[in-house]
Amino acid sequence: MCGIIGYKGNKNATSIVIEGLKLLEYRGYDSWGIASKNHELDIIKRVGKIGDFQDKSKLKKSNIAIGHTRWATHGKVTEANAHPHTSYDRRVAVVHNGIIENFQELKKGLEKNHRFLSETDTEVIPRLIEENMKEGFEEAVKISLNRLEGRYAIVAINQDEDKIIAARKGSPLVLGIGKDEFFIASDVPAFLKHTNEVIFLEDGEIAVINKELKIFNQKTNKELKKESTKISWTLEQAQKSGYPHYMLKEIYEQRDTLKKAISQNDEDIKRIAAEINKGFGTFFIACGTAYHAALTASYVFSKITKKHINVVLASEFPSYEHFLTEKTLVIPISQSGETADVLEAVKAAKEKKSKVIAIVNVTGSTLMRQSDVSFQLHAGPEIAVASTKAFTSQLALLTLLAYACSGKLEEGKEKLKTTASKVSEILEPASENKIKELARKIKNKNHIFVIGRSVNYPIALEAALKIKEVSYIHAEGFAGGELKHGTLALIEEGTPCIVFVAEDETKKEMISNAMEIKARGGYIIGVSPENNEAFDFFIKVPNSSSLSPIINTIPAQLLAYHLGLERGCDIDRCRNLAKSVTVK
Ligand code: F6R
Repeated sequence: MCGIIGYKGNKNATSIVIEGLKLLEYRGYDSWGIASKNHELDIIKRVGKIGDFQDKSKLKKSNIAIGHTRWATHGKVTEANAHPHTSYDRRVAVVHNGIIENFQELKKGLEKNHRFLSETDTEVIPRLIEENMKEGFEEAVKISLNRLEGRYAIVAINQDEDKIIAARKGSPLVLGIGKDEFFIASDVPAFLKHTNEVIFLEDGEIAVINKELKIFNQKTNKELKKESTKISWTLEQAQKSGYPHYMLKEIYEQRDTLKKAISQNDEDIKRIAAEINKGFGTFFIACGTAYHAALTASYVFSKITKKHINVVLASEFPSYEHFLTEKTLVIPISQSGETADVLEAVKAAKEKKSKVIAIVNVTGSTLMRQSDVSFQLHAGPEIAVASTKAFTSQLALLTLLAYACSGKLEEGKEKLKTTASKVSEILEPASENKIKELARKIKNKNHIFVIGRSVNYPIALEAALKIKEVSYIHAEGFAGGELKHGTLALIEEGTPCIVFVAEDETKKEMISNAMEIKARGGYIIGVSPENNEAFDFFIKVPNSSSLSPIINTIPAQLLAYHLGLERGCDIDRCRNLAKSVTVK
């Protein structure tokens, strides 16, 4: 949510920041802005996407610049509300990701001396800094930070010094170390082209980038010695590599990512499986797509391990916190590792001394660092807002854990390897063409329904979510038997309904459910290893028996992609959404 980048060095900071903002657009893209330091601060702000910006001549060369791409929280999408925000005298500029919860109170206090120019919570920050500038820039930032409540990642510059100051509490910031140059950004891909040597800033730390980099503890003011690490992601992974969209690239990457997700250290998996087995209550906590992976995995655990798992949406977890004890195991699942609700749940778990074992994709993310143990998905950077490859990797890793819990790690691995090898079949040109044909057929429908039973019920939820966010068609997922408990009233002649029919114990009932919908005029799209007279349109998938969720997901992702394309949607940057939800 909101992307931040700053640069100080010998190269042209404005072009590096603009380039970085383009790579961060998945975090927010309703407006953007940049402040660079020359004789005075040059500030450019625009509504819309940075790619649409033509007038490059407006960007003066500079060695220090900060930039921001916005996902609006406080205040409409206007130029005035776009970041950077400045002090009234325009000598200080600040970009911010997060929410300042006490901004109204702070604003009231400041209004005597300041005329505010935006509706944002952020603007109080440069104004507070301005109030304290007599103490010096660094001190003024520190004093101001102490007044802020809420979550933030902040980067500030000042007209009179060659300095960038950055601080975080709850929202991500990572420093990039180059040769005689420094970067600061919300995420590594923003500067990966220049360096892969990074330092992750922790909550309560302040970075001061001058000729050299210094990091301080905000409370004690003590300088901290932090080691840099090398990130293994390559630039190529963070680029489209010839695909028209990141989403399509990431769908196709599933030919490899599943294998990577299960290539974990056996001993680690067995150790965690033992923890799950002895744990007194296990919670899977996640949001959105990752929640659907957790829900699917709870069925897998029930079937394979005969173990009950509590699956809770991270945002709803405060209602469950009182069940936590020292013996509880909390397993947060998150692609970004920065989702605010997930991090809050982890904080609650740690307060109750529950053990936290994270499943996460982004290396060095807050979740990874705040958990007792973490498993990485190794899916590489996922840039498209709609999550695809991370989802199937989560399914694969959680399935592996379920098998390990029942002492069948090798069997699980073999099954997952076989399933992974079948992914290419769904991604053959003939299969994708079939899905394109379907997308053309149903692109003007107002509603799409999706049903699945057992392990494929959460896949129906996930398929509906993908269709909604990428194509903006209303879609809803149901358990096979549930549509007739009300929503069947919406089925009209030709209403598309996707049915996942796996070769398992739910097959007959799923076919009956499809028939019930068909009898009311529904247009049945069967996703199955075998055609059936119930289907009006058939999407053939390889038979993967108990691992059908992984396989069934992929045609649904492709359908969402092609529906979005047919309807002219912005595939990688879905309307109103952002990749990493760092606000509650
Ligand atoms: C949907 C999607 C979101 C995320 C959710 C959680 O395609 O991407 O629903 O799954 O915001 O994000 P992470 O996994 O980063 O915690």
